[in-house]
Amino acid sequence: MEKQKFPKRKRIPVAVLGATGAVGQRFVSLLDNHPWFQVVALTGSDRAVGQKYADACHWILANPMPEWARDLTVVPTTPMKIDAPLVFSALPASAAREAEPLYAQSGIAVCSNASAFRREPDVPLLLPEVNPEHTQIVLKQKQTRDWLGYIITNPNCTITGLTITLKPLLESFGLKRVFIVSMQAVSGAGYPGVSSVDILGNVVPYIYENEEGNMEWEPRKMLGTLQNESLELANFDISAHANRVPVPEGHLVCLSVELQQPGTLSEVAEAMRNFLAPAISRDLPSAPKAVIHLRAEPDRPQPRLDIMAGNGMTTSVGRLRPDPIFDYKMVILSHNTIRGAAGGSLYNAELLVEQGFIP
Ligand SMILES: NC(=O)c1ccc[n+]([C@@H]2O[C@H](COP(=O)([O-])OP(=O)(O)OC[C@H]3O[C@@H](n4cnc5c(N)ncnc54)[C@H](OP(=O)(O)O)[C@@H]3O)[C@@H](O)[C@H]2O)c1
Repeated sequence: MEKQKFPKRKRIPVAVLGATGAVGQRFVSLLDNHPWFQVVALTGSDRAVGQKYADACHWILANPMPEWARDLTVVPTTPMKIDAPLVFSALPASAAREAEPLYAQSGIAVCSNASAFRREPDVPLLLPEVNPEHTQIVLKQKQTRDWLGYIITNPNCTITGLTITLKPLLESFGLKRVFIVSMQAVSGAGYPGVSSVDILGNVVPYIYENEEGNMEWEPRKMLGTLQNESLELANFDISAHANRVPVPEGHLVCLSVELQQPGTLSEVAEAMRNFLAPAISRDLPSAPKAVIHLRAEPDRPQPRLDIMAGNGMTTSVGRLRPDPIFDYKMVILSHNTIRGAAGGSLYNAELLVEQGFIP
């Protein structure tokens, strides 16, 4: 992130909910010296509350825990303990379903990674490169729920890179049918996540009960259109297979796509290569320089080699080729705990600041 190019401004106090987990740690790391946000509280489960963050957290990232975080005392996940207009939620869905509305009720903006509210029609499922205008529906959310604050969510980490890739294809050619097979990293299951006995030397053809259903639905919400403060789902079909593979970070998705309008291979490549985020999202602190990096090598992208493209925020696409059943097929790689979680959530919050939704 090129943080130095942003003008100095008073940083907005923020908290991280569920700060000891895989995504919570990413937040703590990415918020270190963030130009717009300053962490004032880290929350945890009952197990962690009252402990210093350094003692409560089993740090799993390669870069060291920031010094300022080490001595912060972990506080309970309740809005009474938080003096900040914005919180980042890295809670499991069950805890998020209870806690997040309490924050929203008390006037706090919640940028959530949990699946708990993604299907609610008045909750934006947000990718700044794809649908920044969907934030408008928080006005309806606040009004109908009588909340002073609001909840926005980022999508399932597996379909983040997919939805970013589908956006230029939808805009240029329209979409008819999408077939996807995921190979999802173990960190997608959090910490400690999948048992090593289950995953080492193995592939598990199952994630969670609703994973494939979510993968088939969430892109249609994000690629849908805003009509009178309501979202109309994009009209195309998706069939998804989800698999867990023994890779630490980075979800790979094999995509076959049938377009509405014909396009040559080079036109399809150009559409993805030239794709820019909408102007309002383009220069935010977490915006990647390249939204999509279209690779030409026959054996890329690979999680080990390409996962940190654009500081983990760029979607890598490769192996674009004709498909004998659909029109084209390709492979998509996206960083699950950065672009698909904490980095994506920070990018969403920066968009909210830019749009005036956070004072
Ligand atoms: N991992 C990914 O790639 C990824 C990507 C996108 C979205 N997400 C979503 O992000 C959220 C966090 O995922 P994760 O992978 O970071 O999971 P995780 O490693 O299991 O972390 C969950 C965090 O929530 C805390 N917690 C658990 N129950 C709680 C409760 N009742 N009250 C307060 N805190 C509680 C945990 O504390 P303890 O340390 O004490 O257990 C931990 O800090 C989930 O909703 C997940 O679906 C994950």
